[in-house]
Amino acid sequence: MLDAVQRRDAAASAALTRALSDVDPGPDRAMITDVAYGTLRWLPALDAALGARLADAAALPDAVLDALRAGAFERLVRGTPAHAAVHAWVEEVKRLPGAPARLAGLVNAVLRRVDLADAGGPPAGVGLPGPLWEHIVASLGPHAADAARAMLQPEPLWVTVYRDDALELLRGEGAEARPGPLPGSWAVRPGRPLGALAAFRRGAIQPQNPSSAAVVSALGDVAGRRVLDVGSGHGVKAAQLAAAGAAVEAVEIDARRSDVGRRNLARLGLRARHHVVDAAAPMTGIPFVDAALLDAPCTGTGTLRGHPEIKLRWTPDDARRAAARQLAMLASVAERVRPGGALVYAVCALGLEEGPEVVASFLAAHPAWRAVAPSVPLPTVSAPVGAWLLPSDEGLDGFYLARLERAENGPAGAPPK
Ligand SMILES: C[S@@+](CC[C@H](N)C(=O)[O-])C[C@H]1O[C@@H](n2cnc3c(N)ncnc32)[C@H](O)[C@@H]1O
Repeated sequence: MLDAVQRRDAAASAALTRALSDVDPGPDRAMITDVAYGTLRWLPALDAALGARLADAAALPDAVLDALRAGAFERLVRGTPAHAAVHAWVEEVKRLPGAPARLAGLVNAVLRRVDLADAGGPPAGVGLPGPLWEHIVASLGPHAADAARAMLQPEPLWVTVYRDDALELLRGEGAEARPGPLPGSWAVRPGRPLGALAAFRRGAIQPQNPSSAAVVSALGDVAGRRVLDVGSGHGVKAAQLAAAGAAVEAVEIDARRSDVGRRNLARLGLRARHHVVDAAAPMTGIPFVDAALLDAPCTGTGTLRGHPEIKLRWTPDDARRAAARQLAMLASVAERVRPGGALVYAVCALGLEEGPEVVASFLAAHPAWRAVAPSVPLPTVSAPVGAWLLPSDEGLDGFYLARLERAENGPAGAPPK
């Protein structure tokens, strides 16, 4: 998994699923998941600590370097007793085809001595490459260090429940569940993979971080309203809107994702009208709506806990490119909202470019629109415009959101047909 993510551009979750395909459910699976994800989450700090003990880390075979990283994570972060962590990884290195015996000796010596203090101790922004840390400090200021630390923690499986018998089903299958910070949101420890759970197959639960659910509630009461869900993807937020009584128009550029979304809503016993459309261009075929949610494609820097690979690839250019697309989408979505209607813009990214700067540019060019403070059932921190939902130790993802309202008789935009 470490190899696929670092050197073959794989997503962590897909690489881990493949790596675990022949591992039985149970404690081993949970432990492997914890070590693999933890190693990626802590990678920059682990590399700094290992670098202090290695003359030339880059000269080592990749598999040996990864054994050192995972071993260092186990010893320094996970708290595995030194003898157990070191022994297991030395044996692993001995089993590598063609690895010279001296490498096992080197792994033994380095893992016994490696220390986070060698890297100056865990720095502020621990786990983040320097440029990404600076990017997040520029937006979150004094909250950045807590956000970075929170994204180092293991991720609970958050679900939104869609049926009254969801918890009964889950507990009947040996899953543990504790209530989350929102009604209907639970942190689950399933005894088996999600797709094998009856609670999932029968449409009683949908994996969803509470922050993602909170973003949708910024639209207010949507019962009986026509709502556009743009960037509908697998339909997680579309499901929430449909369950709340909205007539949902789900717009997605990727036909395959749109189809997964349609099937996901059907699994949950819900419906939406699905459109495969590029929302960065004028959406003339889409009806006018009372409200719209733009869950825009973004760099995902608020979700590093579940997607630690993002930080290994992130560049400032990615944020700038994403912002240009987000602004084009926001302008196009706003055209479909009737006068007097509302639009929630959200991204699971933590930089100014993709959040407040996109909204400020939009507002400057669209005088019929104004931003109002979003009301969500989780704590937020004000942004220059809009607000941040911060990654938290409890397991919440980071989001930016803004609620925009269109004047009843504004200067811009054609009246709805
Ligand atoms: C953050 S994800 C949305 C997740 C989804 N709202 C959910 O809750 O399940 C963004 C989505 O926007 C889609 N997307 C990207 N560019 C788009 C465009 N120009 N028009 C419409 N959808 C787009 C992506 O394919 C992706 O599914």
